[in-house]
Formats: sequence, structure tokens, C-alpha cells
Amino acid sequence: MTARNIDGKAFAAGLRARVAAGAAEVTAQAGRKPGLAVVLVGEDPASAVYVRSKGKATVAAGMESFEHRLPADTTQETLEALVDQLNADPAVDGILVQLPLPKHLDESAIITRIDPDKDVDGFHPVNAGRLATGLEGFVPCTPLGCLMLLRDVHGDLTGLDVVVIGRSNIVGKPMAQLLIGDSCTVTVAHSRTRDLPEVVKRADIVVAAVGRAAMVKPEWIKPGATLVDVGINRTEGGLVGDVDPACAEVAGAMTPVPGGVGPMTIAVLLRNTLVSAARRQG
Ligand code: GUN
Repeated sequence: MTARNIDGKAFAAGLRARVAAGAAEVTAQAGRKPGLAVVLVGEDPASAVYVRSKGKATVAAGMESFEHRLPADTTQETLEALVDQLNADPAVDGILVQLPLPKHLDESAIITRIDPDKDVDGFHPVNAGRLATGLEGFVPCTPLGCLMLLRDVHGDLTGLDVVVIGRSNIVGKPMAQLLIGDSCTVTVAHSRTRDLPEVVKRADIVVAAVGRAAMVKPEWIKPGATLVDVGINRTEGGLVGDVDPACAEVAGAMTPVPGGVGPMTIAVLLRNTLVSAARRQG
């Protein structure tokens, strides 16, 4: 068997087009474009690339992009003052502080400082709590993008066995919450899980978000299972996901790396910003 390719790039393009149409409507009604503020502290090259592509995608969707680049030695007070200013700015619907922050800064204090109703990353504890209790709020972009792809592949997810590998606040935990919300039976595996191959073998769907190149092996996969690969690992051989590409011989459907989950993250960020603008417009 060769797994069906889950084309995240094409799905993301469709989502971005729908967001652009929504943004045009909000702009016509509110008399201003939805606005996304992105804050980058320091010169990490990978973060700079992400921030640049977020800015470009925001403008392409007919939204306003506000970029704030601060030096690596920025103090906690300066960064918090900027967050306060963006919280108060009526032209800003979404605020994203690019992570990781330089080590001397208190990341958790910064995330908690963002107005939860402008927290389009969905990282604020209030939004994590809303997700966990089924209230409306912002959901982290990568897991929400994975859920959209899974719904597209499967339709109804009710009763499916899903194994999420990874327990981060950004992907693993919110992914599990979203899947519980769609009535899946969810197992969250991580670095301390005993007999991971045996756990994965039960899954109808595997979401891999660990950051270890090609760690999920074909022998672990139930034939016909769907594999969603969140990993982006830079190796000497180029970009590699967390799933061994040889799994395509066993799986029923699988996201490629690149071109799978990656393009969904920015598309969902734009979608969250549009939702915020529409909510704030009332
Ligand atoms: N760094 C890597 N991915 C992300 C993301 O989705 N949001 C933020 N804020 N920082 C990141």
C-alpha cells in the first residue's frame, strides 16, 4: 500500500483564500483591516524567517501587519510595556510574541500579559483553560490545523483511537483536548512512555510532535492508519519529519514534510486573527 498524501499546502491555500474573503467583509463593515502584531526579540535566524513569512501572509490576506523587532538584550519591562501598548491599541486584533524568547526573559510572564482576547496563538492560560472546559477561545494554530486536516480526511472522528506523541503546551496537550472534543479515544505518549511501538500500533490516527527525526517506524503502524507529522527536523539530508517516510508503505494517509502541517500553522493564525477582528467588531 502507498499512503494517500494529505496535501496541507493546498488545504492551507484554500483556508487563506476564505480568510481573505472574510477579512474583506470585516474591512468593509468596520472601516479598518483586521490587524496582527508580531513581536520578535533577538536575531534567531529561524524565528526571523517565520516572522517574515507571517508578515507577508498577513498582508496577502488583506490584513494589517505590525512588526516589532527588538534587540536581543531587551528587558522584561520594555517587552511588557510593548505588550501593554498592543493590548490597548484598537487597530490590533491579534498579538503574537515569537518564541523562544532570549533566556533572560520570563516567557510565561509575557504570555500571561497578553490580553487573552487578542491571544491568537492560544498560549495564554485562560485560553488553555477555555479549551479544556469547552468554552470559546483561541486554540493554538498547529493543533487546530492538524484537526482541520483530520476532519477533511475522515469526516466524523467519533470513536477513533488516536495516539498523540508529545505533551507540549503548544501542540501535544491542546491536540489531545481538541480530539477529545471530537469524541476520539486519546492517548498522549511522551519520552517516558513504556513500549511506545505497542501503544502506537493500536492507533487509527497518530499525531507525532516530538521533534526527533524519523522516530516513528513502519513496524509500529496499524495498516491503513492516518499519520500526521508535526515534526520539522533539520538534518544533513534536509528537512525530515518525526515520521519515517517508509511508513507510507503501511499507512492509509500521511502528511508530507514539508507541505503538510507546516503551511496550516500560518493559515490558522490568519483565521484566528480574522475571528478576533469579527468578535471585536461585535
Ligand atoms: N515559535 C515556533 N512556532 C511558534 C508559534 O506558533 N507561535 C509563536 N509565538 N512562536 C513560535
